Amino acid sequence: MYLCRIIDKKGKERSVQLTTAPIMWEKKPGILCFLRDVTDEKKLEAQLMQAQKTEAMGRLAGGVAHDFNNMLTVIIGNIEMALMNVASSDPLYNQLQNVANAASRSADLTRQLLAFARKQTIAPKVLNLNDTISGMLKMLRRLIGEDIDLAWRPWVELWPVKIDPSQIDQVLANLCVNARDAIAGVGKVTVETGNIAFDEDYCATHLDFIPGEYVLLAVSDDGCGMDEETRAHLFEPFFTTKSVGKGTGLGLATVFGIVKQNDGFINVYSEPGQGTTFKIYLPRHKAEPAGALMETSAETPPGGRETVLIVEDEMAILDLCKRIIEQLGYTVLTAKTPGEAIRLVEEHTGDIHLLITDVVMPEMNGRELAERLASIKPGLKCLYMSGYTANVIAHRGMLAEGVYFIQKPFSMKDLAAKAREVLNQKTTDNNRE
Ligand SMILES: Nc1ncnc2c1ncn2[C@@H]1O[C@H](COP(=O)(O)OP(=O)(O)OP(=O)(O)O)[C@@H](O)[C@H]1O
Ligand SMILES: [Mg+2]
Repeated sequence: MYLCRIIDKKGKERSVQLTTAPIMWEKKPGILCFLRDVTDEKKLEAQLMQAQKTEAMGRLAGGVAHDFNNMLTVIIGNIEMALMNVASSDPLYNQLQNVANAASRSADLTRQLLAFARKQTIAPKVLNLNDTISGMLKMLRRLIGEDIDLAWRPWVELWPVKIDPSQIDQVLANLCVNARDAIAGVGKVTVETGNIAFDEDYCATHLDFIPGEYVLLAVSDDGCGMDEETRAHLFEPFFTTKSVGKGTGLGLATVFGIVKQNDGFINVYSEPGQGTTFKIYLPRHKAEPAGALMETSAETPPGGRETVLIVEDEMAILDLCKRIIEQLGYTVLTAKTPGEAIRLVEEHTGDIHLLITDVVMPEMNGRELAERLASIKPGLKCLYMSGYTANVIAHRGMLAEGVYFIQKPFSMKDLAAKAREVLNQKTTDNNRE
């Protein structure tokens, strides 16, 4: 693109943009005056607009998902409790089961929205992508079916990255399903990894990119490819070219959110009929790989006899948590506000072992509350719950080790398991940074 000026007969100047460079330029009426090549500027402008649009949509999606998750917690929890009191032969049982299925599909949707909005709370680990991907190949093969060949090209001596492994699962599953859908009949999907460094020059023409060392994860297919229109809207939530009921348009929005949350970049190369390649770059992790630290075993959730204090300003959720925790055998105390919780703890003569608290509440946030209560009852353990990233307890959505968090909506089993996990921890410094 070239920015030019035309000077008309009256000597007035007008700007025009030409796609090819003008041959003559001179400052005379009626003659083109060539100013400069603006190809890169235009490209950056478009990238910036796209980035701003995505950011705004992310905020909207995150807000909706947050409120929706609170309600889903109540719906899912109450159905679970109701199901326990209905015989499976009762016609009501099937109806409740249907509601439960619909609720859990809704929970999947909000989870994807949160991922897109980068409001998903995650627990990143240092890992080698080759290992994580190798472990998924079987599942991926099943996902794409027998007619499509899955090729795996791991880079030897791949640099480590720091990311929540479940996010790699989400990214790969979404990209592979898209690739499968783009292939009619027989075809090939290739998953590759690599080490790569970006220099200043490269980043000058790619708005989002920051110079440095990255680990590449690429997924290519030889499917139908995409036209320009599709490429322009690819990462927008709810953008889909698939028929109703086939795609929600959240797959790539999720992938985008995950990549951004991990300070990575994503590139797409695609032409109609030429197949598609998605390239994802995640920052190289510099420190020594820590190995598998502190893997907590995932046994079925046993209850307990300890005393648990639940603090939550949403009555329906407070009520639900109380019933779940009580049913597991614990002694339960409840408070609707942080103030009430502090008074209760000051007056309570017996032990309190675990605090389960909402993160965002009027008066005081969950973290402040946990600190206050721990100063009254040293050794009090804490489990935070929230509808989205607990900004107060997490740094940019990432939890420090030793901080326990459960994402709403949760099932009874999730809450039971998490409560037990926290109670079983030997350390008492649950509010570490
Ligand atoms: N590998 C690909 N080849 C061709 N087109 C693709 C590919 N990946 C994505 N697309 C296009 O991008 C659109 C958006 O993809 P996205 O994964 O976000 O949503 P979806 O697959 O339509 O629905 P969902 O993933 O929520 O089930 C797709 O509908 C499709 O048009
Ligand atoms: Mg998809």
